[in-house]
Amino acid sequence: MKVEWQSDLQIFSPEECQALVKEFLALEHYDENKESTYYKNSLGFYNMPGSLAYVDRVTSFVKDRYPQLTFNSTYARMYQRNSTLNIHTDRKGLDVAISICIEDNNNLDWPLNISAKRYDGGDWDLEKDPSHFKTKYLEAHCGVGYGAVMEGRNFPHWREELLCGEKQRAIYLFYFWSIPETESKITRLVKEIEERLAELKEEMAKGQQ
Ligand SMILES: [Fe+2]
Repeated sequence: MKVEWQSDLQIFSPEECQALVKEFLALEHYDENKESTYYKNSLGFYNMPGSLAYVDRVTSFVKDRYPQLTFNSTYARMYQRNSTLNIHTDRKGLDVAISICIEDNNNLDWPLNISAKRYDGGDWDLEKDPSHFKTKYLEAHCGVGYGAVMEGRNFPHWREELLCGEKQRAIYLFYFWSIPETESKITRLVKEIEERLAELKEEMAKGQQ
C-alpha cells in the first residue's frame, strides 16, 4: 500500500535552485559508483559551500518538530539515467533529513519512497530481507525548490530506477541533523545493560563458588 504525497514545503525559490545547480555542476564530483551498495550512476558532493549558506533557513523547517537537533551536513547528488537508490536507513548521527529537489528540467518527478514501517535495528543490515518495508510507504513527490522531511535513521527509504533519456537528470540537495537526545538515550541504555551484565556475571560467579 502506498500513499502519494506532493510536497507543499517550499524551501528554495527557482532562482536559488538555479544558483545551487550552477555551483554543483562546476564542482568536481564524487562518483557514487564507488559505493555501489546503495547507489548506481549518480554523482555527489559533500557540504557544498552554497548549500551551507542556507543552513539556518532549512533548519527553521524542522526546528519546531525536533527542537533538540543540531546541524550535521549537506549532500548534493545528481541522478541520471538508470540511477538507483537502494533501500537503506541513514548512518548514525543522521537522524533527521530533508531532501530538496533543486533541478528537474524534464519533469521526471522521480519520487522518494519512505517506508511507513519503523526500522529498529540500529545500523542498516544488508543481510536481512528488506521487502516488508516496501509494503507500506509514502511516495514523496517534490517539485523544484520543494522538500520532504524524514527520520532517515528510523524509516527505510529508496528510489526506484530512474528511467529517462540519456541527457536527462535530476539534482537533489539533502540536509542532515543529529538529535543529541537520541544518542544520549542510547548511551544511557547501553550503560544500563553493561551494568546489569556485570551484576549478572558477579551473581553467577558467586553461585559457582
Ligand atoms: Fe538516505
